[in-house]
Amino acid sequence: MTQGLPFAGHIFDGVFSHLALHYFEPDVTAFVFDEIRRVLRPGGVLVFAVKSTKDPYYGRGQRLGDHIFARKGHVRHFFDEEYVRKLLVDWTDISTDAYGGTYASSEPSAFIRAVARTAV
Ligand SMILES: C[S@@+](CC[C@H](N)C(=O)[O-])C[C@H]1O[C@@H](n2cnc3c(N)ncnc32)[C@H](O)[C@@H]1O
Repeated sequence: MTQGLPFAGHIFDGVFSHLALHYFEPDVTAFVFDEIRRVLRPGGVLVFAVKSTKDPYYGRGQRLGDHIFARKGHVRHFFDEEYVRKLLVDWTDISTDAYGGTYASSEPSAFIRAVARTAV
C-alpha cells in the first residue's frame, strides 16, 4: 500500500479500510490517501476506521512524531478529526464519528471513522 495500489485509476466504486491506515508518517499517509482517491471512480466512496487520539495507547511508548508513537515494536499514528479533514481536503460529503470498542483483545480502544466521496 505504501508503494502505491496495484490498480488502474478510477476502477472502484468504493474502498473500505478497517484499522489499516494508521501506521504511517504524514507524507506516506497522504500518499496512500491520494492512491485511494486515484483508484476510485468520480463519486466513489471511501469508508475507513483508524485509531484515534482518544485511544488509551495514545502517548505511550516512544514518540516518533506528531501523534505517532512506537510501543512494543508497533508504530501507530493516532488520528483526530482535524487530521482526517486535512487528509480529505479534496473530497466531498465527508462525515466522521468517534466510537469505542475492542479489537483483537479485551482492552478498550478508541477509533475514528469517516465516510467521504471523491468529487464528481
Ligand atoms: C489492526 S490490523 C486490521 C486488519 C483487518 N483490516 C481487520 O480489520 O481485521 C492492521 C493491518 O494493517 C496491516 N498493515 C500494517 N502496515 C501495513 C503496510 N505498510 N502495508 C499494508 N498493510 C499494512 C497489517 O498487516 C494488518 O493486517
